[in-house]
Amino acid sequence: EEFKLWGGRFAGTTDPLMNIYNNCLSYDKTLYAHDIQGSQAYAKALHKAGLITEYERDQMVQGLDKVKEEWQAGIFVIKPVFDEDIHTANERRLQELTGPRISGKLHTGRSRNDQTTTDLRMWVRDTLISTERYLLDLIREIVSRASNEIDVIFPGYTQSQQALPIRWSHWLLSYGQMFLGDLQKLRQTRARVNRCPLGSGALSGNPFGVDREFLAKELGFEGVIPNSMVGVGDRDFVVEVLQWATMFMSHVSRLAEDMILYSTAEFKFLSLADDYSTGSSLMPQKKNSDSLELLRGKSGRVFGQMAGFMYTLKGLPSSYNKDLQEDKEPIFDCCSTVNDSIQIATGVIATLAIHPENMKVALSGSLMSKSCSKLAEANCLNNVSELDVDELREACGGLGEDIMEIFDYERIIERYGSIGGTAKNDVLLQIKEIDQCLQNL
Ligand code: ARG
Repeated sequence: EEFKLWGGRFAGTTDPLMNIYNNCLSYDKTLYAHDIQGSQAYAKALHKAGLITEYERDQMVQGLDKVKEEWQAGIFVIKPVFDEDIHTANERRLQELTGPRISGKLHTGRSRNDQTTTDLRMWVRDTLISTERYLLDLIREIVSRASNEIDVIFPGYTQSQQALPIRWSHWLLSYGQMFLGDLQKLRQTRARVNRCPLGSGALSGNPFGVDREFLAKELGFEGVIPNSMVGVGDRDFVVEVLQWATMFMSHVSRLAEDMILYSTAEFKFLSLADDYSTGSSLMPQKKNSDSLELLRGKSGRVFGQMAGFMYTLKGLPSSYNKDLQEDKEPIFDCCSTVNDSIQIATGVIATLAIHPENMKVALSGSLMSKSCSKLAEANCLNNVSELDVDELREACGGLGEDIMEIFDYERIIERYGSIGGTAKNDVLLQIKEIDQCLQNL
């Protein structure tokens, strides 16, 4: 007995920690449905190429349906030592269901190298379709608030100092425009993700005449990857999504930062709905903008995933290397973080209350000449609107009674009527153009 155990170890069993280190089923089981879809398409392609009978194909397809049902029902039983990843787990289970004489043929000409990246491309593609839908909702929410609240005016800031009055809608739409750009870029990225590597084999292609165009079509890809080494070794599609997400989350983070500031007691421009705030256990008077702080904070997490995976890729030899297994955790986490963040941001914007009266009070600091501001500062006034007409006229030197018109923000704002300006017509034009872009997507 003792000898056997000892001998067994030397005959090639794996170090127990190495087993765990190598195993990725705990997270790549996310791909179970796509893995099964890929295998079913591959079974059909094998039959088309005359490599298996119709009966064998049907057994494979039906067996794989059964495996999928087990995953869906949460009753798939994992065999830790055998099931190294989702591909081996599904195939091991298929073998139990159909017997090895049938299941063993499924892997003909296929490698886990083309299988794993096929699964991941499908998963990313499908997930990005949801991302686009959420993003569309977010932009629509921003546009709808912008058009309902078009007459609300508040201070615009540069370098966190009051600069000029702007429309609240103008601020909202500045983020609407960023997110629209993000949506347009994401669509282009998704098209590059959605190309089929299946049939690339281990790295050199498929020697059995498997029809790659057929596989691509069957799996909803837009065309095949034209080089089998790229097919198995490329993860640019993962990086591109991570980079896209990094940029997108930095827009989200800036939005959150603005709103955190605007909802402080010092600004009081807006209040977050209770749905998106939490309280403090020690300071019961507090209402914290946790949703916004998490939106801001999670942008760092996504940036880290992007940078980390780019480090993994740098300097890898061409085609498949096991390092590439490290693609999955960052991309899974990034996609769920992004999808959740968009929905939270949409909810926050849809439910927040704005306080136009407070915005108006704050406004008076925005517009005055240097000498008026100095005078107000010297008199310890909160802002220049607290100066009276005579003080103002004196400070500004030689100005007429119409000096007080500088507090007519509505009038001032309407002067900024070039394309992209904050005058009402131009803000309305922005809304119209965003609407049109959304319709033409
Ligand atoms: N689990 C692996 C991955 O995610 C599958 C590919 C393994 N290929 C191999 N030749 N060992 O990358």
